[in-house]
This record gives sequence, C-alpha cells and structure tokens, in this order.
Amino acid sequence: MLPALSLLLTAAPSNTPPPAGELPSRIALTWSGDTARTQSVTWRTDTPFDHAEGQIAPFEADPANLKDARKVEATVNRFELPEGKAVGQYAVTFTGLEPDTAYCYRVGSGQAWSPWNVFRTAKSEAAPFRFIYLGDPQSQLRSLCARAFRSAYRAAPDARFFAIAGDVVNLGYDDRLWGELFDAFGFISAEVPIVPVTGNHDLIRADRQFTYAVTPWWKRHFVFPDNGPKGMGELSMQNYYIDYQGLRLVALDANPFEQLQKSPADRKSIRDRQYAWLEETLKNNPNQWTVVLQHHPVFALKASRDFPEMRTMLAPLYEKYKVAMVLEGHDHSYGRMQRNGVTYVVSVSGPKLYEPGPSYLGPNTKTASHLQMYQIIDVNSQRMTMKAYGIDGRLVDSVEVRRRR
Ligand SMILES: [Fe+2]
Repeated sequence: MLPALSLLLTAAPSNTPPPAGELPSRIALTWSGDTARTQSVTWRTDTPFDHAEGQIAPFEADPANLKDARKVEATVNRFELPEGKAVGQYAVTFTGLEPDTAYCYRVGSGQAWSPWNVFRTAKSEAAPFRFIYLGDPQSQLRSLCARAFRSAYRAAPDARFFAIAGDVVNLGYDDRLWGELFDAFGFISAEVPIVPVTGNHDLIRADRQFTYAVTPWWKRHFVFPDNGPKGMGELSMQNYYIDYQGLRLVALDANPFEQLQKSPADRKSIRDRQYAWLEETLKNNPNQWTVVLQHHPVFALKASRDFPEMRTMLAPLYEKYKVAMVLEGHDHSYGRMQRNGVTYVVSVSGPKLYEPGPSYLGPNTKTASHLQMYQIIDVNSQRMTMKAYGIDGRLVDSVEVRRRR
C-alpha cells in the first residue's frame, strides 16, 4: 500500500463524526465554588458513557496549547427516561483557575466532544461588571424563549452571568422541557454561567406528590455552592449564594414562604431554618452589595397573588441589612418599586403574560405588561443601575441605586 494511502486509512476513524447521541448537549456553566477560581459545567449525552471528562486550557489564539489541556474526570449520573431509554448527565468543576482569566474548555468522552467553549473567571476583588436578570421563562421555551435569551445576550454579550428568578421550566420533571430550555440557550449557556433559583413549577413532580424538594432534573442540569442552610438534607442546595466582584447574590427558595393551600407540616420548620440562614448570609456579607433572587414577589403585582406572611418576614430583613435589589418573578408581568431603601423588581422573560392589578401596596413606580423582557444590571463600587427592556430592545424602565452598605 502506498504510504500516503496507508496514512489516510489510519487517520480515517478519528475524522468520522461520532453518532449524534454521543455528542454533548445541554451544556450549562454554573458555579459551585469561588467565582474567581472555579467553574462548574454540566452536560448530557443521549448515549450514556461510564466515563466522561472536561478539558481546560488558557484561551489563546494559537490552538497549540490545547494539547496540554488539563483533564478533569466527570461525575456520571446515568438514569432512565420514562420511556425506558438510558441517558447520561455529567458534571465537572474546574478548580485552581487564575482570576480574571479567559479559559477554553471542552467536555465529552471517547471521540465525541463539545466545541472548545470560552469563559472568563471573575476578578478576585470588587470591580465593575454587568449581569442579566430574567423573570420566568417557563413556557414555549424553544419557540419563544429563545428570542428572549438571544436578545439579552446580543444586548449585553459582556454580561458575566444570567440570574433567573425561577420557573425555569413549566413542569420540573419533564425531560423534554429541559431539552427545550437548552435548545433555546444554544451556545450561550456554555459560555455565560446561569444563576437560577427555584420557582413553584420547578417543584412539580410526575406523581403530583407535593414536596419542597426540586425534581431530580434540577440538580442534574445545575450544580451550586453547598453554602445553604445546614441540616436540610436535599433541600439545602436550593438556597445558596455566590460572591462576584463585590456583590453577594443570594438565591432564596421562596416556596416554603408561600401561603400554600396545601401546607405540609414541615413547612414552618423549613422556612425557619431558611430564615436563620438568610439572616446570617445577609449580616456576614463582606461585599459592597447584596442582591436577593427569589421567585415569589415580596410585593405582589396583584392582590390575588399576595403573600403577606412572606412580606412580614422578609421585608424587614432586607431593609435591616440594606439589600440593594430583590429580583423576582412569578407574576408574569413587570413591576418595580422602592420601599425603605430596597428596590423590588418583578419581571418575566417567557410568553406567559398577565395583567398587573391596581397598585395596592406600593405604589409601584413603574409597571408594564404583555412584554417579554430582559434586564441588564451594571454594578460598580458606588452605583447599581438596572435597565429593563422589552426583548425588541425598547427601554421600559431604568433605575439607579446608590450604595448604602
Ligand atoms: Fe411561579
């Protein structure tokens, strides 16, 4: 055989595209540790592997350095979908990263790899940055939420993360909806971390049994810091915080604060432990800023959706510890108000849209309805500025908050 032909045949297998089911999909960056020195990533393959890994190297224009990429073995979660098909979900946390540095990473197994995606670590000290805040996506994820995610990303490609105020999917147990969510994000969730909090729809289980624990799908697709309330078992990581360049973002699972018709006996005990943790987390915050992300609004946009018990508990805490903004969802409309120094915002990114009721608590400084929206929040050492847009780019609201802590 001619040497050239021999070489061609030897090389052929590695040039054959792998079967589609082996390729990583649903790639999501989240944090489970220090935002300046770690980065977590999760992904899916429809054909499950026993072993998978992440590979990472500094982002350089010359791809030569990728051959020296560091390898990190993934944790593997193989499970069966309701129709009996086995799939694989994987998670890796890259550690020991340099602050304020761009990295290139890929995930996969065997011959089936993601593209080399790029992210940047946070600075290790306070410094200006921006992030995107989205209200509930929830419905028609592939069809109509894609345009919201893409518009937000186009408007702020330098945003350092997406804070999502819950109801990420409509039925937390439905794997197909999770597939739609990541179809809607496309490559964006592989390069811009997601910081989501649980909404009521994220708890919905296939058997309709009520529990405050999110469905397993939530933790298959996201990993979070284990810095929530202690002694709450599987619920502890539904409450967490990240510190990012001078800002502490606290994700509070507001479900146990809701006045539910169906009120399990353990609700008060869960809520009391969350409250104690929340107070400690707000009190012992070394950052310049505090923002809380929660699903149910402290000040609802409609009397029929009001949670007075939650307001009585949380509003004084937010005032006492000088929380700058509380970013919320659930009411499928836009509303922003300030009360005793705290700015409360409700927004929505998906197409399920309600009319806000007459102001009865605020009054709200600004309301808007029947718009899919995104918000861009700029943070520096003295000011936090939020601009709220319709996804067609129209400016709906703008607010500036001065630092008080
Ligand atoms: Fe909701």
